[in-house]
Amino acid sequence: MMKSEEIRKLFLDYFKARGHKILPSSSLIPIDDHSVLLTTAGMQQFKKYYTREKDPIKDFGTQRTATIQKCFRTTDIEEIGDETHLTFFEMLGNFSFGPVGKDDPQNFGSDGYFKRAAIYWAYEFIKNLDLEIDYVTVFGGERDVPFDEESYKIWKEVGFSEEKILKKGREDNFWGPTGDEGPCGPTTEIYVNNVEIWNLVFNEYYQDKNGNLKKLEFPGVDTGMGFERLMKVSQNVPTIFETDFFQPLKEVLDQLTNKDDIRRKRIVLDHIRGSVFLIADGLYPSNLERGYVLRRILRRLTLNLKFLDIKIEKIENMIKAVIEKYSPFYPELKNYDKIKTVIFEEIINFERTLNIGLREFEKTIKGNENDEILAEKLFLLYTSYGLPLEISKELLKDNGLGWTEKSQQVFDELFKKHQEISKGRISELAS
Ligand code: SER
Repeated sequence: MMKSEEIRKLFLDYFKARGHKILPSSSLIPIDDHSVLLTTAGMQQFKKYYTREKDPIKDFGTQRTATIQKCFRTTDIEEIGDETHLTFFEMLGNFSFGPVGKDDPQNFGSDGYFKRAAIYWAYEFIKNLDLEIDYVTVFGGERDVPFDEESYKIWKEVGFSEEKILKKGREDNFWGPTGDEGPCGPTTEIYVNNVEIWNLVFNEYYQDKNGNLKKLEFPGVDTGMGFERLMKVSQNVPTIFETDFFQPLKEVLDQLTNKDDIRRKRIVLDHIRGSVFLIADGLYPSNLERGYVLRRILRRLTLNLKFLDIKIEKIENMIKAVIEKYSPFYPELKNYDKIKTVIFEEIINFERTLNIGLREFEKTIKGNENDEILAEKLFLLYTSYGLPLEISKELLKDNGLGWTEKSQQVFDELFKKHQEISKGRISELAS
């Protein structure tokens, strides 16, 4: 069974041998891109090479790059705890920026390539890992973007029968842009053991802020293979949490609690790993934008540690386990003292609020409430005791209670009024 460390090396060596410049992951805090809070994809650090605002030859000496990119996605934060979702993950990617030269898998040079080389290499790389592709998907055409016949034909040429090349629409097989504008295009996706492991994007378009697509001067390639998913199928384990990424951390966690709550344990595994990486990249918890993402996961971590009966002092070894596993590839993780201090301070600050909030929450949910009264009560918990709504919502879920759209609407209205009153008070004081 291959370890993740070996696959890291195999991937980078494979693409290095094919003319790609190997670059380090960019920070989770995007440097040159204000369209998103955090880095969510490998192509983000390369956006300006697709649009030709930057010249790859000048910067890299080649039109091809490959990375293993740290990514953090918040869209599914509420799903963390199931078998498949993560906030932080890594993505293995190879990239090509136009103009396209000889699009041939035997071309190991430094010119741009496109669908043929990208598909052949992805196929070969997976085969070299002794994995078998179940099926692939291609863009079947929708609205103003035509069927990607070229990819379809290439997969047939590779040896796939028509039943194994599924055609999908924009929802599934059109990627990007990140944020509100940028390069994007049709994709072809590779499935192994029914898991989508590799997404090959052919960046042929630029989507502007109004959602209009314009052809890019030169098309490019942006591929992303979810590292945890790849390891799940390669190590043949039931979920991503049994891969060697989480194993050392999981062993520490299992020693800290007698409870057998898998969902909470997965939340702890994900959120510890994610916060270590965010802090290592310079983020501090705050009430604003990306700082709030970190605050939110640390608060949720606090809640779940509490339910697993784990004392905060005990999580030191989990932080160390993450750092030990990843610092050979991410030197920024070496700053253990700072990472630990930020996590501890935030958790300790929030613990007090949480203890009082939990007590009041118990009282609050007694009795049969309607959606509006529930929203009013949770709003009061927020304003009087500082218990954030997302934590209350999580507690509702634990108690088998729902949170409806109506409740959210009432909560939002109360919140708006509250803000207006506070603003009014401030201007009264100022006048
Ligand atoms: N940008 C694509 C993704 O994030 C492929 O790298 O899936």
